Order: sequence, then C-alpha cells, then structure tokens
Amino acid sequence: MALLHLDSSAHRAAESTSRQLTAEFARRWLARHRGAGYRYRDLAAEPVAPIGAAYCALGRRVEQHGMAPAEGLIETAAERREWALTRELVDELLASDVLLIGAPMYNYSAPAALKAWIDRVSFPGVLELADLRVVVVTACGGAYETSERDFLTPYLRAYFGKQGVVNLEIVTADRTLAWLVPGREPDRPAAAESLAAARARLIHLADTV
Ligand SMILES: Cc1cc2nc3c(=O)[nH]c(=O)nc-3n(C[C@H](O)[C@H](O)[C@H](O)COP(=O)(O)O)c2cc1C
Repeated sequence: MALLHLDSSAHRAAESTSRQLTAEFARRWLARHRGAGYRYRDLAAEPVAPIGAAYCALGRRVEQHGMAPAEGLIETAAERREWALTRELVDELLASDVLLIGAPMYNYSAPAALKAWIDRVSFPGVLELADLRVVVVTACGGAYETSERDFLTPYLRAYFGKQGVVNLEIVTADRTLAWLVPGREPDRPAAAESLAAARARLIHLADTV
C-alpha cells in the first residue's frame, strides 16, 4: 500500500485548515498501514512548473499517433525536459493506492498550485486511475451549501470521474473565515460544527480507505 499526500494551501500549517486535516488523515492512515509507502508534496512551497509549449507539442504528437508512448516521439531537448518533469509525477501517482489532496478554495475554484499538478499529470494516455482511492479535503472561507459559486468540488468530481476514479471522497470544512474576519462571529458555531464533522469523516475514512 502507498499513500501520496499533496497539500496546496499557501497558508502555513498553523493557519491552514486543509493542511491540518490532511496531516491528521495521513497520521492515522499510516498508523493503520505500518510499512506502507508514503510520499508528500507541498505544491505551494515547491510548485510544479506550469506546462509549456514543449509539453503541448509532445502531447499533441502522442494524440496524433494514437496515444503512442511519449518516449519514442520526443523531438527536442525541451520536450525531453518537460517529459522528465511529467514522468516523475505520473510515476509517483501511478505507484499510489491512495491519493490525499488538501485543496483550499481560491476564488471559487482550485489553487493554481494544485491545478499545475493536475495539468502536468494529465498528459495524454498515461493515467489509469480506476483503482485509485482519492480523498480530497477542501476548506473554504464561506459556505456553499446553497450557493452556485462552488466550482471547486464539481470540478474535482468531474476531473477524477473523467480519469476513471470511482472511489472519490470530498470532505469540506467551511466558514473558516468566521474565526478571522470581523462581523463573521455569528458563523462560528456552524464553522466549528463543519470542522468537527470533517474531522470525524476523515477519521472514518482513514480507518476504512
Ligand atoms: C487567494 C484566496 C482566495 C480565496 N477565495 C475564496 C473564495 O472564493 N471563497 C471562499 O469561501 N473563501 C476563499 N478564500 C478563503 C479560503 O478558502 C480559506 O481561508 C480556507 O480556509 C483556505 O484553506 P486553508 O485554511 O487550508 O489554507 C480565499 C483565500 C485566498 C488566500
């Protein structure tokens, strides 16, 4: 068994709800799976390079050749560099049984740091994720139960669904700004409830996933 743990909050751990919750999940899951593989990436502190022209040129060639392996289609040094960056992340993902992602909501959607990782690992023809179990922890300053502005969870569901993932859990802690922003004090009981529910759900998932 192997766990790949990604965080993408730009906040430090002490100020980040998603970082604290993913860390709790990882600790508990690893205690249950002694000897399991564990890889950690802090996508905010060590960003994955955004894809460039060489990545796209190689990807187009792979598609043009009916998803032939990229290695045999590389034409330039820039493509070789892009492929090396991509391959490392893809291999790390394919070697994992469980993918844990901390994904704060930034401007109604995913942080650019996480999106850069997603764009890179989604190279044409390389992902086969049907057996991957995915746990995503989202944190947002507001609440979106009755709002149509949540583009984060629908996006992640659509993305992992398209990749063949059937075992996807998204756990959300909302109203996190109730603890910080003046005037939002009335939201604190609901924020505390949301955090407690997220924590309980993650404990359950760490014991079962
Ligand atoms: C750049 C940025 C954009 C944000 N955009 C939103 C937003 O669209 N909706 C929202 O509810 N909260 C938004 N927030 C608040 C964060 O979602 C909230 O602070 C959350 O707890 C961040 O996750 P973290 O605690 O794991 O760092 C934003 C925060 C930042 C830094």
